[in-house]
Amino acid sequence: MKELKIFGIVAIFTLVLYWGVEPFAHSQMHKHVEGHGFVYNGADDVEEAIEAGHKDKAEAKKAFWADVAKVAKMKGDVAAGEAAFATCLGCHTGAPINMGGVIPPALDHAGALYDKNYLIALIKDPAMASNVDHKYKDTMTHPMGSIKAMMADDQQIADVVAYIMAKKAGEVTTKEAFAEACGRCHAMRYAKTTQLGDTPKFKYEKDALAYKIKVIEEQDAVKAYMGKLPPDLSMIIRARSAHFMETFVENPQTQLPGTSMPRVGLTHEGYEKVKTYLEEVGDPSKPAREELGPKVLLFFLIFTFLAFLWKKSMWKGHH
Ligand code: HEC
Ligand code: HEC
Repeated sequence: MKELKIFGIVAIFTLVLYWGVEPFAHSQMHKHVEGHGFVYNGADDVEEAIEAGHKDKAEAKKAFWADVAKVAKMKGDVAAGEAAFATCLGCHTGAPINMGGVIPPALDHAGALYDKNYLIALIKDPAMASNVDHKYKDTMTHPMGSIKAMMADDQQIADVVAYIMAKKAGEVTTKEAFAEACGRCHAMRYAKTTQLGDTPKFKYEKDALAYKIKVIEEQDAVKAYMGKLPPDLSMIIRARSAHFMETFVENPQTQLPGTSMPRVGLTHEGYEKVKTYLEEVGDPSKPAREELGPKVLLFFLIFTFLAFLWKKSMWKGHH
């Protein structure tokens, strides 16, 4: 009887810790961040500025996103947009040339990866769109900031974005999605890719070392631009929850206030591609594990049933 009481007390104590204290401590240490379904309309940016007590900033952000919404309603001309898109290719060459801190990503699948509102905002003011304007005194000094002056007017911005959205360029592979949206900053050691792209195979050690030096130089440039070297993402999908990853990529400031990682403007489908790639590299046994789960459960069910039948037959006639 005494043992039972002790057991009861221990059990109650454990349950209180498990359901009461742990979730409370967790919610205090990690504030819960609500996702917005990868919609980019600046609502949370304005809220952020108000919460931080920056009224002027909140007003400026409100006006900025209202202006973006206005352009989003304009009808873009795809053919005119294609011509104007040449301006973008001046920097987005696809070659590994660092420009002001990072290698401008290839835009081959931009229409399939990025949100339309976000693209308009990005051309109007990349620092505001990426929600890293706190890094710049004048948001024009963002390495893509000069694009604003290169566009004739809002109509031309609407045209370029119409062209990008029309040119979805077929299916994006998960690897392409990662390379275009994250690869300029984050390496993936397990996939043998760095900020310079896939690491080639070298016949001679000397060439491999020379390449390694180039990678280090590129990483130094990214580090100088970002303030720190963005972490290798090989294992991140196991280290962080799905909810953290999704809300963080949607708006990094929500989880790491003041961080230099930009909001990249992915659509939900675009993010799913990136996430799948992170899983393929960091957790390749996940599909096999998921497939095995129901089989194990089925095994236990059948086993329990057989054990029950066996017990019944053993006890038959013993009463
Ligand atoms: C322009 C550079 C840049 C791009 C592009 C970028 N990141 Fe980052 N990322 C950073 C930096 C810098 C950090 C470090 C943030 C810090 O500690 O303040 C970071 C941190 C992270 C972290 C770690 C957060 C944590 O606390 O564990 C994750 C996860 C991440 N990035 C995912 C992504 C994904 C996914 C993409 C592509 C969709 C991406 N990043 C694109 C610069 C970038
Ligand atoms: C002056 C050079 C330059 C020009 C011109 C330029 N870009 Fe960029 N772009 C960059 C750089 C540099 C980055 C990477 C910035 C970063 O990661 O912080 C970038 C990033 C991007 C991204 C990725 C955004 C994200 O958040 O992940 C897109 C999309 C993009 N540019 C589209 C365009 C379009 C469309 C045009 C033409 C209307 C254009 N760019 C013109 C330099 C340029």
